[in-house]
Amino acid sequence: MNYRRLGKSGLKLSELSYGSWVTFSFQLDVAAAAACMKVAYDAGVNFFDNAEVYANGESEVIMGKVLNKMGWPRDSYCVSSKVFWGGDKPTQRGLSRKHIHDACHAALERLSVDYLDLYFCHRPDRQTPVEETVRAMDSLVRQGKILYWGTSEWSADEIRAAYGAAYKYNLEPPTMEQPQYNLFEREKLEREYLRLFEDEGLGTTIWSPLASGILTGKYAEGIPSGTRMELPEYGFLRKRLESDRGREMVERTKRLAELASDVGISLIHLALAWCLKNPNVSTVILGASNIDQLKANLKAAEAAKKLTSDVMERIEGIVQSKPEAWIDW
Ligand SMILES: NC(=O)c1ccc[n+]([C@@H]2O[C@H](COP(=O)([O-])OP(=O)(O)OC[C@H]3O[C@@H](n4cnc5c(N)ncnc54)[C@H](OP(=O)(O)O)[C@@H]3O)[C@@H](O)[C@H]2O)c1
Repeated sequence: MNYRRLGKSGLKLSELSYGSWVTFSFQLDVAAAAACMKVAYDAGVNFFDNAEVYANGESEVIMGKVLNKMGWPRDSYCVSSKVFWGGDKPTQRGLSRKHIHDACHAALERLSVDYLDLYFCHRPDRQTPVEETVRAMDSLVRQGKILYWGTSEWSADEIRAAYGAAYKYNLEPPTMEQPQYNLFEREKLEREYLRLFEDEGLGTTIWSPLASGILTGKYAEGIPSGTRMELPEYGFLRKRLESDRGREMVERTKRLAELASDVGISLIHLALAWCLKNPNVSTVILGASNIDQLKANLKAAEAAKKLTSDVMERIEGIVQSKPEAWIDW
C-alpha cells in the first residue's frame, strides 16, 4: 500500500481507502462488514469513510461495532463522518452550529470513538453563513472532537469563502474536499479546484471511483440481480443508469473493457488506477459489497504502471470527458 499526504497536511492516508455508503446495513451486516474491514486493514488501508446519513446512522453503528471488535490501535487508522442530513426536523439538517455540534456527538457515539479523524460538511448549506460553519468546525477541532475538517461537493467559490473566513478570524481552515471523481466525472477535480490545490494545498478523498459500479462493466447487458442498482432505496441510481447519459456511459465502458483487455489488466483496475494517476487525489475511497470485490480492488495500484501515456490517450479517446483546459500563457 502506498500512502499519500492529505493535501498539505501531515496526515498520510492509504491511497486506497474503504467507504460504507449503500453497502453497510443494506448489503453487509456486522459480520460481513467486519470481514471486509479486516481485509482492507490487513492490506494497509488506514481510512474508513462514513456519514451520519448512511443508512440513517446504522452504517456508523456497524462500523463502530467492527472497530470495537477488532481492537486495532486507535492511532493506526482514521475514521470519518459527514454532517448535513441528520433527520427531518429543521434543527437536524444543514451546517448550523447547532446541527454540527449535535451531529458530531451523535457520530462519535455511534462509531464508539473519542474523536473523528476527518469530518466533512456533506454538502454546502446556503441557509447558514459560512463563518458560522467554520467557527463550529474550529470549535470541534479545539475540543479534540475532530482532527481535520473538510467539505464534500462544495464549489470552489464556497471552499474559498471557508478559507477566507478561517484566515480572517484565525480559525482552523478546511483540509480536504470529497468530490466524486471517475472516468466520467472530472470537472471539479481537473478544472474547478486547480487553484485550490495550488494556493491552499487542498487534499481530496474521492468517491464513486467506479461510477457506482458502471465502470465494472457489469451493466453491459442490463441490471444483474444482487447489484446496487436493484436496491429500491437507491432508485435514483437506477434512474441515472437508465438515462441517456447512463446508457452512454455503459457503451463507453464496453470500449474501455476492450482496451483493458488489450493492455492485459482488468477493466476495474484500469478505472481505479486511472484515478490514482491524478496527483491531486489523496485517497480513492473504494466501495465493495463483498470480500471478493474488495480483494480485487485493493490490487488496483499494480495496474497504474500499465497506464502509459499512450494508454492514457486511448482512454481519453474513448471517454471524451476531459474538462476544457484553462488558457495558459
Ligand atoms: N461524499 C459523498 O457525497 C459520497 C457519495 C457517494 C459515496 N461516497 C463515499 O465513497 C465510497 C465509495 O463510493 P461507491 O461505493 O459509490 O464506489 P464505487 O467504486 O463507484 O462503487 C462501488 C460498488 O461497485 C460495485 N463493485 C465494486 N467493486 C467491484 C468489483 N470488483 N466487481 C464487481 N462489482 C464491484 C459494488 O456494487 P454492487 O453491490 O452493485 O456489486 C460496489 O458496492 C462510499 O462508500 C462512500 O464512503 C461519498
